[in-house]
Amino acid sequence: MAGARVLNIGIDFGTSRSVISCDNGIRTFIPSYVGFPKDAVSRKLFGKDIVFGDEAVKNRLSLDLFRPLDRGVLKYSDDRDINRKDYKQTIDVARKLFEHLVLLATEGNPKGHIIRGVIGTPAIASKKNKQALLEMSEGILDAVLIASEPFTVAYGLNLLTNSLIVDIGAGTVDLCRMRGVMPSEDDQITTFKAGDHIDQVFFDLIKAKYPEANFTVNMVKKFKEENALISKNGESLYITLPVKGKPMQLDVTEELREACRSIVPDIVDAVKHLVTTFDPEFQDCLKENVVLVGGGSQIIGLREAIETYMRETLGYGKVRKIDEPVFAGANGALMLCKDMPEKYWVDLKTAA
Ligand SMILES: Nc1ncnc2c1ncn2[C@@H]1O[C@H](COP(=O)(O)OP(=O)(O)OP(=O)(O)O)[C@@H](O)[C@H]1O
Ligand SMILES: [Mg+2]
Repeated sequence: MAGARVLNIGIDFGTSRSVISCDNGIRTFIPSYVGFPKDAVSRKLFGKDIVFGDEAVKNRLSLDLFRPLDRGVLKYSDDRDINRKDYKQTIDVARKLFEHLVLLATEGNPKGHIIRGVIGTPAIASKKNKQALLEMSEGILDAVLIASEPFTVAYGLNLLTNSLIVDIGAGTVDLCRMRGVMPSEDDQITTFKAGDHIDQVFFDLIKAKYPEANFTVNMVKKFKEENALISKNGESLYITLPVKGKPMQLDVTEELREACRSIVPDIVDAVKHLVTTFDPEFQDCLKENVVLVGGGSQIIGLREAIETYMRETLGYGKVRKIDEPVFAGANGALMLCKDMPEKYWVDLKTAA
């Protein structure tokens, strides 16, 4: 492309939120939702055929709303042969969301660029999951590289050795131990009790305590994001929900705490496994350097809960959070984008 300049984009295409970080300085994120107006009235309401992110979530009653990822991977990508139609629809919707992100990255002018992207996936993403991401990127990116999400985080934070990254997302918690080389399968664990699981447990617990209240998972998710905590800080938490049409303040202190706690056992089991199977000479360094990232890392008391468990079972543990948990994956993917030699890249023009 004569005169076109290279644009590198780090992409965290997440279950709940898609984040981009670009070498032209643009950094942004949108919730991973795509909506299509349901009828002529809603088409008139929006004045467009497609709606993304927060606007889609807020207006979901008048939209057919899609979330193309589940548990960190494109839906139906593992059983695409059985669910051809659903898979095709997922790829179409994901492409639209992806195109929208690239428009944001290029300020509406993708044609003027040669675009290279590194896309993060859960540590245990299958070949089919990765293939689906390549399919989604065709015609949108010029070159692509798929990388394990916790590895991109470690790379971006320059934690290349003796560190354990725990990325707590919506669909998955991805753990990756770094030992100075490209992590292998043995260095990574994915668990499925993450933010979406907390939302469902919280929803079920409120429903059980207040059967007459009327609410959706989305409502309790929002409340969780504003109040999530595991530790007891003495304050009671009240959510306002309609009961027979009348807004009532309901005490959900213990329910929220229990829901947030529900992801801890699987996380600490995985931490324990990755520490105890590490080279014994370096296990102490690993215990010293556990780093929480992802939206779920913001739960108050989670860091302390993991540290306490590590102290009890492994003798010692130092866990920390980072300043920008939301951008960590995309920032690291951008750095990989700039550093990776040509041989690692898939050229989407020749691959097609
Ligand atoms: N302050 C907060 N406290 C607790 N949870 C939060 C907070 N903010 C966001 N979350 C939760 O974090 C999750 C989103 O995190 P993140 O953006 O890292 O996930 P994702 O990358 O979209 O998901 P995945 O990595 O599983 O594909 C959601 O479940 C969201 O509700
Ligand atoms: Mg993520």
